[in-house]
Amino acid sequence: MQKFLIQGNIPLKGKVKLSGAKNATLPIMAASLLIRGKCYLDNVPKLTDIEMMGEVLRELGTNLIRQDNRLTIDTSFIQKEEISCELAKKLRASVLVLGPLLARNKRAKVPLPGGCNIGSRPVNLHLKGLRSMGANIEVKKGYIEATVNSGLTGSSIYLDFPSVGATENIMLAASIARGTTVIKNASRSPEIVDLSNFLKKGGVKIKGAGTDTIIITGNKEIVPITHSIIPDRIEAGTFMIAAAITGGEILITNAKPEHLGVLISKLKQIGVEVKLDKDKIMVKGSFPLKSFNVTTLPDPGFPTDLQPQITSLACLADGESVISETIFENRFTHIPELEKMGAKITRRGKTAIVKGVPFLHGSCVVAYDIRGGASLVLAGLAARGTTEILNIHHIDRGYQKIEEKLILLGAKIKRVED
Ligand code: EPZ
Repeated sequence: MQKFLIQGNIPLKGKVKLSGAKNATLPIMAASLLIRGKCYLDNVPKLTDIEMMGEVLRELGTNLIRQDNRLTIDTSFIQKEEISCELAKKLRASVLVLGPLLARNKRAKVPLPGGCNIGSRPVNLHLKGLRSMGANIEVKKGYIEATVNSGLTGSSIYLDFPSVGATENIMLAASIARGTTVIKNASRSPEIVDLSNFLKKGGVKIKGAGTDTIIITGNKEIVPITHSIIPDRIEAGTFMIAAAITGGEILITNAKPEHLGVLISKLKQIGVEVKLDKDKIMVKGSFPLKSFNVTTLPDPGFPTDLQPQITSLACLADGESVISETIFENRFTHIPELEKMGAKITRRGKTAIVKGVPFLHGSCVVAYDIRGGASLVLAGLAARGTTEILNIHHIDRGYQKIEEKLILLGAKIKRVED
């Protein structure tokens, strides 16, 4: 096991280039199963979650070749429609192969992804959508077994919650289903728009991606596609908050500022300087920071994937900030760890009341999930003294060599064997 050692209280300064978006890459890799042939993905981040999805596709008979940030996926010879439990347990997003496999081979057997540290992570909406397209789905002995005799048929589906994964699974199944599928109360995330742009290149007719109603008209064959993944807005937001929490100045390049509107306006409200160019974001932190309130919401609201990170920032704001997490039932695993560093936080159910302190101090803390881990890195960068972060494999799932990018910004951080 590895850990980070961070010597904090150093204002970060310099430029950072974003990697491709993890949460756009994963559904697009699953979408490759719809194609009988090769597709080429560029700007693919080097993350353990991406490697795991590659293992899932290989297990199905796909051939993947990685050359730096390019991933070539050849799905000409898929022999299986079933993935193993151990693989699926390591990557919840493996459930995204359910829709494309069922649509392509009329059968799919995928382990129930199960919960994780941030919540129970049900997939009932994924199954509701596929059933309405004609799939027979049974959930037994920890597996989802889906079949459809004469192929999937387009349907009108209302999502009780604008689930990102459910929207993606249904879009993928609908891409080669007969007829038209309408997804109402769909997720409006930028990653859904990137998936839609990928599928459109393959000849799928899609309207409304990015809105709450997406209309997909299935296409028998999807032609091979070349696509460059959008930059990772959550990585961007994490580095923006790194500038704010250390009182530094960071220029983020190859960004899409339009994906970060909510965070940009929140940081400006807090007293952080943010300047935008077409693909650049400059963030200049300065103290004092004003206290603030954040409530996470489905896109285009404040992203839950940036809640732990902005909670760390709230620890150093003047006065009392209120953070409400409405998407996941247990996304406060970072709070006890921040308290070890001197943070003053009171939890009331899904709300955390953060009383700002003059400074945080180094401590030994534990990462329990990707973004909780990232919030501890941010706190460590700001804290006086040295912070040790254990279980950093969680962080590596969502950030490509975060310490290398931080060192280029002047951070004193190193990865050591624990
Ligand atoms: C995606 O997860 C992201 N992961 C998550 O990022 C992100 O936090 C989440 O969307 C919300 O934005 C990937 O894209 C790989 P959801 P997903 O389905 O699709 C409930 C990270 O840190 N729900 O929108 O699993 C569910 O319980 C990760 O990069 C149902 O009730 O999220 C949760 O409360 C963490 N039934 C809420 O919806 C369902 O069938 C959000 O889930 C599906 C979801």
